[in-house]
Amino acid sequence: MNAIVAVTQDWGIGRKGDLLINEKADMQHFVRHTRGATVVMGDRTLASFPGGRPLKGRRNVVMTIDPELEAPACPEGTTCEIVHSMDEALAAVADEDPDTVWAIGGASVYRQLLPHCTRAMVTKFETVLPADVYFPNLDEDDAWVLESSEEGGTTADGVAYRFTVYRNTAL
Ligand SMILES: NC(=O)c1ccc[n+]([C@@H]2O[C@H](COP(=O)([O-])OP(=O)(O)OC[C@H]3O[C@@H](n4cnc5c(N)ncnc54)[C@H](OP(=O)(O)O)[C@@H]3O)[C@@H](O)[C@H]2O)c1
Repeated sequence: MNAIVAVTQDWGIGRKGDLLINEKADMQHFVRHTRGATVVMGDRTLASFPGGRPLKGRRNVVMTIDPELEAPACPEGTTCEIVHSMDEALAAVADEDPDTVWAIGGASVYRQLLPHCTRAMVTKFETVLPADVYFPNLDEDDAWVLESSEEGGTTADGVAYRFTVYRNTAL
């Protein structure tokens, strides 16, 4: 499994249930990596998508402890299933090629699944914005090494960003 995330300089990832920055090129980067794959997320991240709908063209695995939550209906080519624990989430993806399974957030799911992730694709926006959820700071974690970093571009607001990849040396 791998993780994919967009962070600001202090590793902020969201505020009030939404992303901090919406940047088209970063969305395209996310889509390029996760299209046709399995995405594992918390139910607040699912709720943050337009209409609270699962991501199209992917197998969506949604974590909640709510026994009542039912998987929303999906168009052809998309599936969504509900799991009620991290063990259940890991079991759900156990038979998949690990390179096609992505932890896509939010903060609570990243925290729990990162030890199971081989790589983390981190889009880094060179700014700090008010946030209420954060990704673990991989620069301060000895298990994680920066494998690559390439310039992404600059947002319409003038914020530069980079596409980086970290590798988990503990796996
Ligand atoms: N920048 C990025 O790349 C990025 C990516 C994704 C999300 N985000 C942002 O992150 C924020 C959401 O993150 P979040 O941490 O608040 O929420 P989240 O991780 O998306 O969802 C949290 C919910 O997931 C369920 N959950 C988590 N662990 C579980 C477990 N072990 N067993 C069963 N259920 C479990 C629980 O649902 P119940 O409460 O229903 O039990 C929990 O309340 C939003 O602001 C979103 O925009 C940012």
